[in-house]
Amino acid sequence: MKEKLQKIREEAILQIESSKELTKLNDVRVAFLGKKGELTAVLKGMKDVLPEDRPMVGQLVNDTREAIEKKLEETKKKLEEAELELKLKKEVIDVTLPAKKNKVGHRHPNTIALEEVERIFTGMGYEVVEGPDVEYDYYNFEALNIPANHPTRDEQDTFYVNDKIVLRTQTSPVQVRVMEKGKLPIRMIAPGRAFRSDEVDATHSPSFHQIEGMVIDKNITFADLKGTLQEFAARLFGPDTKVKFRPHHFPFTEPSAEMDVTCFKCGGKGCRFCKGEGWIEILGCGMVHPKVLRMSGIDPNEYSGFAFGVGLERIALLKYEIDDMRLLYENDIRFLKQF
Ligand code: DAH
Repeated sequence: MKEKLQKIREEAILQIESSKELTKLNDVRVAFLGKKGELTAVLKGMKDVLPEDRPMVGQLVNDTREAIEKKLEETKKKLEEAELELKLKKEVIDVTLPAKKNKVGHRHPNTIALEEVERIFTGMGYEVVEGPDVEYDYYNFEALNIPANHPTRDEQDTFYVNDKIVLRTQTSPVQVRVMEKGKLPIRMIAPGRAFRSDEVDATHSPSFHQIEGMVIDKNITFADLKGTLQEFAARLFGPDTKVKFRPHHFPFTEPSAEMDVTCFKCGGKGCRFCKGEGWIEILGCGMVHPKVLRMSGIDPNEYSGFAFGVGLERIALLKYEIDDMRLLYENDIRFLKQF
């Protein structure tokens, strides 16, 4: 019995030592220590051993098992280390390769232009407010002194939702909403979307953006309007920018004007950019009509104010020298990433 165990032990160690892979090592474990393994067979034969010899034989079996297990464990560790070593050698990481870059989006030219305008006006103490895109006819037209059948309505090819509700054709209705709140004085700008049933071309889109502005206080005059908008133009287009006011007509302001700025490309001499004019039209403005003030609950004998409306796309196109408005809406990454 003693010799048999000795033989098992030697044979097992030999086989373990010649195992070059973990799977092979496991086969050896099963062959000797498994349920049907050689050592287990010896244990099963214990019933044939004389009772007085059993403790001694039991001890021998245990020693053999321990020796085999120890050898198995050592070899397993060695094989695992070798395997890892090999893997590390094979999978070399070239740290000099360029990293994968995550593509990060950025602000749209409209947004950049809007933020710039907002910065200029908030810097002058203006509040930024918003109104609804879907608006009552009352706010979009009626309260701005554009009654039913007024010819101005025809100029603004409107998307009607029903008789009383329209997609706002301008941001001017926000003026009325702010005045109605009754908190005076007012110094606000209202950026947002506007809609007109226009055909798409290089300068038109059925959905576009405007920035409305309004100041209401005691003793506000046209001089305040001019000073404010001159400052706005200089901050937006450069300190040498001059402005020019041409008489115009808007139903909600009196007097009304359109403001031009000197071409920031040629400084006013006339070039391809300003089509030889030297001037570029930029916004509509005027003194808030007394009727408009009264309709919104403000006494025109006590308060006066000015208002203006500017197209956001127009500013973005000018500032970034983009010659087709459609580019702003096509979401072509190759175009957008230039800004
Ligand atoms: N709402 C006008 C438009 O869309 C622009 C405008 C002109 C706004 C004069 C004003 C203003 O506030 O005073 O054509």
